Amino acid sequence: MYTPSKLISGLLSRCPWHHCHRTCAGAAARLSVQEALAKVEGSTTNIKIQGWVRSVRAQKEVLFLHINDGSSLESLQIVAEPSLKNSDITFGSSVEVRGVLVKSSHTRQKVELQAEDIKVTGQCDSIGFPFKLKERHPAAYVRQFPHLRCRTATFSSLLRIRSEATAAIHEFFKSNGYVHIHTPIITSNDCEGAGELFQVEAANMDPEAGADARFFSVPAFLTVSGQLHLEVMSGGITHVFTFGPTFRAENSQTRRHLAEFYMVEAEISFTKSLEDIMQVMESLFKTTTTTLLARCAEDIDFIHKYVSPGQKDMLQQMIKNKFLIMSYTEAIDVLQRTKDAFQFKPEWGCDLQTEHEKYLVKHCGDIPVFVINYPFDIKPFYTRDNEDGPRHTVAAVDLLVPGLGELFGGSLREERFQVLQSRLDRLGLKDAYQWYLELRQFGSVPHGGFGMGFERYLQCILGVENIKDVIPFPRYPHSCLL
Ligand code: 4AD
Repeated sequence: MYTPSKLISGLLSRCPWHHCHRTCAGAAARLSVQEALAKVEGSTTNIKIQGWVRSVRAQKEVLFLHINDGSSLESLQIVAEPSLKNSDITFGSSVEVRGVLVKSSHTRQKVELQAEDIKVTGQCDSIGFPFKLKERHPAAYVRQFPHLRCRTATFSSLLRIRSEATAAIHEFFKSNGYVHIHTPIITSNDCEGAGELFQVEAANMDPEAGADARFFSVPAFLTVSGQLHLEVMSGGITHVFTFGPTFRAENSQTRRHLAEFYMVEAEISFTKSLEDIMQVMESLFKTTTTTLLARCAEDIDFIHKYVSPGQKDMLQQMIKNKFLIMSYTEAIDVLQRTKDAFQFKPEWGCDLQTEHEKYLVKHCGDIPVFVINYPFDIKPFYTRDNEDGPRHTVAAVDLLVPGLGELFGGSLREERFQVLQSRLDRLGLKDAYQWYLELRQFGSVPHGGFGMGFERYLQCILGVENIKDVIPFPRYPHSCLL
């Protein structure tokens, strides 16, 4: 039980300059909420905390606030005399609190800040503010406020996890000897050949003007993949990776597609085997996930608890088991043998649909499964020809994961000059990809690589249904807010 005397004992004499504790020797030391929560020993005077009010509880003799600044899931409890109460201190307002950090006598928190001064930095109109005190808002509702949703506990957790996952991915590649390459965002090629391109042109260009008036003189697009540029660099540096924004103008309104998403891509020289590529994919997934579970335990547990109960066990299962491998032909056999009715009938030669991918993972006991050796006709020009038949395949691989389907796509690349040249010729792409062909003339090596959708990775780890809830500013057909 707090009493005013307990609360303000030792705080009565204030320095004349800052109206703070008498031991004040100058400006208060600013701590983040996370740093304050970590200070469990003794008491520290003249501390300043800045953040947003997550809860306000005024009792007759004491005022309790919870302040969060996005540095941790847990908020810091502020205990203050009722005289410091001010009608502007409301849920959502921003405040600066100065006082003494002490060990808390309550079991629910280790420390608390005994406030000497509370300054409201920015008021918050609680009627207009879309989020309400103590309410748990559905994801679809929160999504409507991309400019404010970082204030919710769930999205704040997501942002910290996303940031740690980015760092863990960079660490994985660094510790395995990969060089990070900044591949371009504006490009003149369509790597995947699917035509899902956003064209880039100067906004003030006269649409009637001829080709010479183009900013780059040639049609330019936002990249759909950094792969071809990574392949260039892998021609001199054997292990390279890139991790950046990727753009696809596909009209897919699904819970796993975005028009702008982040892709992690790696390219490995001197490899002839798809197994080598799959090993890096599996290791990237498992190492990053293990690191994240250790570094963001609280945030991940919080999301699992409220968004996807059971996901933690699923993750442990994925980490501890060896991923399975199945050929595309076997996959089609499995799908055709099942009595389950699919919306799209599986036929050899067709691309696997999400419903097929999900079924295959379930069939494999909810363990991620690599599907390898896809039909020649459905994969891009760069994939290495297996030269088999009559069912003609290429050395391509997709990794399918529980609840989601495809998470990674990769392949061995066609490194043989003649084979690549005749393929480009048949596709009418020989001129456009002359530079790519040249890579096969000057010290060509067998190589391969993969790409992992970063938002799909976060969905897989966190069990988040909709991809729009794991990216700060989702872009998708008919929506480009902010
Ligand atoms: O399978 P994709 O198309 O592979 C490539 O782009 C290769 N060039 C990568 C490489 O080998 N370097 O895309 C790779 C991954 C997919 O498995 C998926 O996780 C993700 O990128 N992805 C998307 N994520 C969100 N929204 C979309 N529209 C996506 N399209 C692909």
